[in-house]
Amino acid sequence: MLSWLTRPVAIKEKLAGRNFIPAHADFYSGKNGRPIELMLQARTDFLSIWRKRDYTERVHEIRVLGRQIVIVNSPEHVRYVVAKRHENFERKSPQMRRALEYLLGDGLFISDGETWKQRRSLVNDIVHKNRVPAFGPVMERTTQELVERWSSLGDGAEVNVLAEMAGLTAEIISRSVFGNTLGRDSADAVTDSFTSYQSLIDSINIGYFLGFNEGLPVWRTPSLRRSVKRIHGIIDGVVEDHLAGRGDHDSMIQLLLRRQQKNPELKLDLVALRNEAATIFMAGHETTAATLTWAWYLLSKAHWVEKAVHAEIAKVCGKRTPTIDDVPQLEWCRAVIEETLRLYPPVPILARQAKEADVVGDIKVEPAALVLIVPWLLHRTGSLFEKPHHFRPERFLKGRPAPYSYIPFAAGPRVCPGLQFGLTEAILCLAILAQKFKVRVPEDHAVEPQCRLTLRPKGGLPVTLHPRGRKEA
Ligand code: HEM
Repeated sequence: MLSWLTRPVAIKEKLAGRNFIPAHADFYSGKNGRPIELMLQARTDFLSIWRKRDYTERVHEIRVLGRQIVIVNSPEHVRYVVAKRHENFERKSPQMRRALEYLLGDGLFISDGETWKQRRSLVNDIVHKNRVPAFGPVMERTTQELVERWSSLGDGAEVNVLAEMAGLTAEIISRSVFGNTLGRDSADAVTDSFTSYQSLIDSINIGYFLGFNEGLPVWRTPSLRRSVKRIHGIIDGVVEDHLAGRGDHDSMIQLLLRRQQKNPELKLDLVALRNEAATIFMAGHETTAATLTWAWYLLSKAHWVEKAVHAEIAKVCGKRTPTIDDVPQLEWCRAVIEETLRLYPPVPILARQAKEADVVGDIKVEPAALVLIVPWLLHRTGSLFEKPHHFRPERFLKGRPAPYSYIPFAAGPRVCPGLQFGLTEAILCLAILAQKFKVRVPEDHAVEPQCRLTLRPKGGLPVTLHPRGRKEA
């Protein structure tokens, strides 16, 4: 729909020796004072609207059709918004709320106020870092199954690694959330429906810019209804199975049910349970799949980093398959994932709506204004990261970034509750697969980052798979 309105995006990429500047949108050079043009560009891709000066530490505002948009790009002010004045800025943007409400209802990702507080502690407990080791065997087994499938394809097999990683992480999160009760066909149906849901949702809520503070509901087209009906149907079936005592004991949904039985005041009915399960499922696989896909792209070009990763896996694990217990020793693998999350944060824009008037830096924020923290910009700000557009995982071996300058999992009370789960999963999957395969992006393939709900390579990432020789592995 309205595809004629989309604009081309100029992409830059440079590889010279060990200097690798991976693909990113060039600085925006449209004329100032043309908000409609900017909005059309943003509709195509939110990452292609930033000018060179936006990649500096500052807070500034723009107006689009009279609506105030405040862009916060300095650690001090990021802290102010997400932590110090969290209560005034905890509310997600109308775009985000409207885009996801049909699918997730009052699920944690888009709720605020009392509902958010109550559900947050619930979800925190369920995906808490102390529980992550319990999900290790699921991560290991599922990734091993992929190793076996890839091995059967032969040297040079062509796959779309974004689809492969989405399949892998969806399987891991669905086994973790639902137990083994979901089954392959239903897992695929849920993943496909999520993908089509994303593609059917527009990236801008025009109603908000036309003066509706709450934005306008998305148009529930027959295809959108079909996607949602399919997802809800499958998840409801799983919840009902668990309620009837047929579920897997250690799954996340079983924990939700137990919490409800212990604390009936939570009032988690079937719909609320489904909303939280769908939220964890959605938030828990898409982001990790994008991270792993970007990591394969980066390793495919930066052979010197790939070598360091292989050497580390050999040193830590020898010939046996990496396990969750190896993760703390896999420092290069962790650094690669952390640098990937810096360059390609799967959630590149954190969008909030101010509840009341406030002051951020020198900017007077109006009630209902859109406040944007853009990890994509922050992570590429020269005063915070040396050579900010370069791929240099070593920076994470040497030390930690300054507080609130590196926020791929957000920060403050709304920080991602799945941080440890996602980080551990990404490191472990990378180590298990890199031990056995080299992944190569064809030389003539132009990689283009595209930001919709998450940041993915446009059209996925075609690659060839190469089993590593016995001697090498
Ligand atoms: C590399 C992997 C991941 C990344 C980069 C990531 C990133 C994020 C970010 C940036 C947010 C905040 C969004 C915002 O404030 O607008 C978020 C929220 C959330 N994430 Fe993650 N995430 C990852 C993995 C996971 C996993 C594995 C789970 C569950 C097992 C999960 C569950 C959630 C939930 C439930 C929220 C909503 C929290 C709230 O609003 O209070 N995430 N994630």
